[in-house]
Amino acid sequence: MLDFNLVADKYESFYLTPLGRDVDEVEKAMVKKMLHFLPRRHSLKIGCGTGHWTKFFTTMGFPLVAIDISERMIELARSKHLDSAMFLVKDVEKLDFRDESFDNVFAITSLEFVDNLDKAISQIYRVLRPGGNLLIGALNGNSPYIQEKMKKKSSTISHSRPFTPETLHSLLQVFGEPQIKAGVVIEEGRVLDKEMELDQDTLFKKGAFLVGLVSKTK
Ligand SMILES: C[S@@+](CC[C@H](N)C(=O)[O-])C[C@H]1O[C@@H](n2cnc3c(N)ncnc32)[C@H](O)[C@@H]1O
Repeated sequence: MLDFNLVADKYESFYLTPLGRDVDEVEKAMVKKMLHFLPRRHSLKIGCGTGHWTKFFTTMGFPLVAIDISERMIELARSKHLDSAMFLVKDVEKLDFRDESFDNVFAITSLEFVDNLDKAISQIYRVLRPGGNLLIGALNGNSPYIQEKMKKKSSTISHSRPFTPETLHSLLQVFGEPQIKAGVVIEEGRVLDKEMELDQDTLFKKGAFLVGLVSKTK
């Protein structure tokens, strides 16, 4: 497993590049579309990193507890002084929150970096209330862009285990009936679906980012 303490200070530099800005814009638009019907209640953010996505979720009206295993990531996240977010150093595989204590759980590109995904999922299942929602944003292993990054040892992505639409779907099926979307097709340094509509088949095969949403069966 990658020690994120070592990459924390330069973690956000990608978002400052033209490609990073476009990726961020398309990813956020995808997630935003899926958040409409979710209650703006007590929510848990898994693997919050520097708080980049936590800021987005608070802006969308969710009060959050945000956790990360990396102390340096949490230090940087706290320095953002976000209203309605509390940052804690915790391992998702060993959560000490009460059973069924969260209305929503969000994880954006974090579950592909945990040591033991089964342990993480069983903890998420335990702390999410019946009728509550789980939203996962994930790297798509079908994407040629992600496949290239996986080959480069210097890339954070090479330390991940990306999902596919099928593996994300079967992971979320434990909770209920999932919806899966894909997007962020990157070719020649450009995000194609920022400028043009692409068909569903192309997005699932080439999109670098997946979003899965499921409500836990009551
Ligand atoms: C690629 S970063 C994702 C940051 C996220 N996209 C954000 O900006 O909100 C993955 C994060 O998952 C965290 N992580 C990895 N394993 C974890 C675990 N077992 N429990 C909690 N966080 C973990 C890492 O420390 C890292 O900060």
